[in-house]
Amino acid sequence: QCPFGGDRIGGAFGGRPALENWYPHRLRVELLHQNGLAADPLGPDFDYAAEFAKIDLNALKNDIKQFLTSSVAWWPSDYGNYGPQMIRMAWHSAGTYRIADGRGGAGTGMQRFAPISSWWDNGNTDKSRRLLQPIKHKYGNALSWADLMVLTGNCALEIMGLPTYGFAAGRLDAWEADNATYWGPEVVDMGSVSSFDDMVNRDKRWRGQNGDPDYDLENPLAASHQALIYVNPEGPYASGDPMASARDIRITFTRMAMNNEETVALIAGGHAFGKSHGMTPAKEIGPPPEMAPMEAMGLGWHNPRGAGSGKDTMTNGIEGSWTPDPTQWDNSYLENLFRFEWEQTKSPAGALQWTPKDPNAPKTPDAHVAGQMHPLMMMTSDIALKVDPEYRKVCEKFLGDFDAFTQAFSKAWYKLTHRDMGPKHRYLGPEVTIEDGLLWQDPLPDAAYAPVGEPEIAALKQAILDKGLSVSDLAFTAFSAAATYRDSDKRGGANGGRLALAPQKDWAVNRRATPVVEALRGVMEAFNDRRSDGKRVSLADLIVLGGCVAVEKAASEAGAVIPVPFTPGRVDTTQELTDIEMFTWLKPVADGFRNYVDDGFGQMARNVSPEELFLDKANLMTLTAPEWAVLTAGLRALNANHDGGRHGVFTDRVGVLSTDFFKAVTDTDLVWEKADADGMTFTLKDRATGQPKYQATRSDLVFGSNAQLRNIADAYAGSDGEARFVKDFVRVWDKVMMLDRYDVKGHKRYA
Ligand code: HEM
Repeated sequence: QCPFGGDRIGGAFGGRPALENWYPHRLRVELLHQNGLAADPLGPDFDYAAEFAKIDLNALKNDIKQFLTSSVAWWPSDYGNYGPQMIRMAWHSAGTYRIADGRGGAGTGMQRFAPISSWWDNGNTDKSRRLLQPIKHKYGNALSWADLMVLTGNCALEIMGLPTYGFAAGRLDAWEADNATYWGPEVVDMGSVSSFDDMVNRDKRWRGQNGDPDYDLENPLAASHQALIYVNPEGPYASGDPMASARDIRITFTRMAMNNEETVALIAGGHAFGKSHGMTPAKEIGPPPEMAPMEAMGLGWHNPRGAGSGKDTMTNGIEGSWTPDPTQWDNSYLENLFRFEWEQTKSPAGALQWTPKDPNAPKTPDAHVAGQMHPLMMMTSDIALKVDPEYRKVCEKFLGDFDAFTQAFSKAWYKLTHRDMGPKHRYLGPEVTIEDGLLWQDPLPDAAYAPVGEPEIAALKQAILDKGLSVSDLAFTAFSAAATYRDSDKRGGANGGRLALAPQKDWAVNRRATPVVEALRGVMEAFNDRRSDGKRVSLADLIVLGGCVAVEKAASEAGAVIPVPFTPGRVDTTQELTDIEMFTWLKPVADGFRNYVDDGFGQMARNVSPEELFLDKANLMTLTAPEWAVLTAGLRALNANHDGGRHGVFTDRVGVLSTDFFKAVTDTDLVWEKADADGMTFTLKDRATGQPKYQATRSDLVFGSNAQLRNIADAYAGSDGEARFVKDFVRVWDKVMMLDRYDVKGHKRYA
């Protein structure tokens, strides 16, 4: 018998069902503990910014550029230039980003891990990364994989003639696969997937048929099919239908936060380089890296034909190049797309593609055999840019103005590859382009004043107390400002004071904050108007300080005198610097911390329970399970419900930082009953008398019903829980308030 509980023949872990297989609806609380310190070989003190600062970026770029124009026998470069395949690697690294939950993207180098490493669409990006390994080893941990991939994409663009817009380092590698990101409902046996056709047959993420008015893609997904970065190059369901492809491109690229112009710039710009590879039928290709045999050492997609590389390469199935000079930045992609009529053909691997009808159209050289020429190629997704009226307009603009195209591609590439990096304080290196405060960077102005110090903070706390605002209202408001933060793309948070700006000020979930913000504005104006010493306080800081005042008061009511840390220095941004549409994506569908469920919840979140969304929110806020529980229990003790209602407020001492919430969810003298048919709300009754006592939502009762959370509740509900609870609540409160403070030195990775 195997010590890990399996049968030796089945292997220690192989074939052993996971808890999810036995209990498909269990809440995966353990997701909160992934990619933590335990998985990180560099330890908690590793300071990436300091290490990266030691690198001479020019020397590093020269090394990369020299490598790009070399070739090795085990994976020879096309046209003697690895640039195009590296651009694709970098694009695929960044292109998983989706605006709805901010997940995906280049930020943590996730292309190194399954499932992304093994998606059919990432075919042979394993070779690209392996080719870069000598450079990675040379620079060691001072250069993350995540940064190296993007930087190599930039270097590739530069050596082929595109002036890049800038490069910021600062991406910290993850050290394990990410299980928290939802990549779609399809259960795909990757071992049996050998082409796009295989995958699309399992497709479940679309509502309606292409052409239906309500045709749409399930949120938060941004790829048209499982295991793709964006869309099927052969058109939806390999239909070869360019209009339908355009529709998919628009939906998916919008989810990547790209508009029509950026979309055309990216696709037309990217496909100015390199080629597609389709020399071997997909069915002959070996399994992806995650399933490859051990001796493949992490490389997948073994191609049995010829050398399996070079002229025999098979990646995607489509074969050929878009331009006559695939290693030169020029406008020939768009020129040829528009100059010629294109007709459908098949690649040697059997994929559907397009070739010019005119036999005299320019040809493109073979990537490996000198003197051999081939017809140009377009994919259905390329023809889409020509047939879709809106994309066509952009193409025509770029056709007539190569400089505008160059600039648009350069800027869109910068956005694509930096979109998930968060505030400018995270940007490292001498090539950072930040001065013009691009709107997608959610700019924060620099403070033109000195921040408040201890004496002013004390005076401001008193001024807030003098306003007579309740502990509940102050805590709710501070939490509402901070809780937009999501670690996935480092957007949101209290800094900037955006709670007072559209769209956040208008969200139903924030309604309760409106009068509080106005009262705090009064405090701010009175303070700032009186000062002659250059010190000023921002509304953003006051909102957080109001929360500190509330928590200190609630702790003292519970008998604990404990200072709540406050780090001033937040600034107020402006409405002009706030992209309303992009911030609307931060609007919660449900927020268990404030016991909020959006009116449209039922339609928006198919098959997702409020507690799953609550877990998701805790995950995006980087909370551990104990932090999640403590924060919720404290917010209930203060009654920070969005509507001030009593759900989950299991106490008659509202405003006291007590463990009453934990006591109620673990109390065996109480019984719970569904209060509505769907089981969204509950009534708690005294077991003995049958008298109703409290009301609750699923976001409350999950702390008593889920085993892992219930054990945490037990740890605080016991006789020795109170004092620790107050301390732990203050710690997690401060953590939440500081989540977005990358401007503060020492911002912790493992808080
Ligand atoms: C190659 C599809 C957008 C850059 C390819 C390949 C496919 C593809 C199927 C061939 C892979 C192979 O067999 O080697 C698509 C689709 C897109 C899209 C469907 C969106 C509608 C982009 C974007 C960029 C880009 C936005 C970069 C900004 C490249 C490059 C190559 C390539 C440089 C050549 C790789 C090489 O030479 O090895 N693309 N792509 N693509 N793509 Fe895209």
